[in-house]
Amino acid sequence: MTDLNYDQTLHLKQLLSDKAIEEIDSWIKKYPAERKRPPIIAALKVVQEHNGSYLTDELMQAVAEYLDVPHVAVYEVATFYTMFHLDKVGKHVISVCNNISCSLRGADKVIEHLQNRLNIKVGETTNDGVYTIKTVECLAACGGAPMLEVDKQYHENLTEDRIDQILSDIAALEMASSKKTDKAEASE
Ligand code: FES
Repeated sequence: MTDLNYDQTLHLKQLLSDKAIEEIDSWIKKYPAERKRPPIIAALKVVQEHNGSYLTDELMQAVAEYLDVPHVAVYEVATFYTMFHLDKVGKHVISVCNNISCSLRGADKVIEHLQNRLNIKVGETTNDGVYTIKTVECLAACGGAPMLEVDKQYHENLTEDRIDQILSDIAALEMASSKKTDKAEASE
């Protein structure tokens, strides 16, 4: 996915595909017309996905305009939920829970192992733009602590071996996708 070319004069309908707008509209329709705020989360998810996995202030403004809510209401949602990124992130954002249960069961070790393996600190992205490490609040999987979430999947009861396996699965995916791209380019 590529960054959207945002222009202050553009509106959400000009930034997104018809399908993406339909998806946002389907969320809007789930609520009575006077309840304008509940679809904010869904709209931000759609926009983020179309903008290379992060949000900009201008995009949040466009969402606010489309939903007819104050800009600050959108900003509050975007900054409250850790699934939203306000800076450029890697293709795979590894979100490690460091809330109480995960901390008690070794979240620090998980973070340390990831940092060593990827050679970046929490909040950073690898030079190749593939991985970002983040720490997040409780993801409601405390029974499986310590845990992390990456690519919309939860991984629980983490050990160093388990983390290594997750990273090699992602690396295999990346390899397969770059081979696919090479093949497509060669056939052009
Ligand atoms: S404390 Fe980590 S999932 Fe709840």
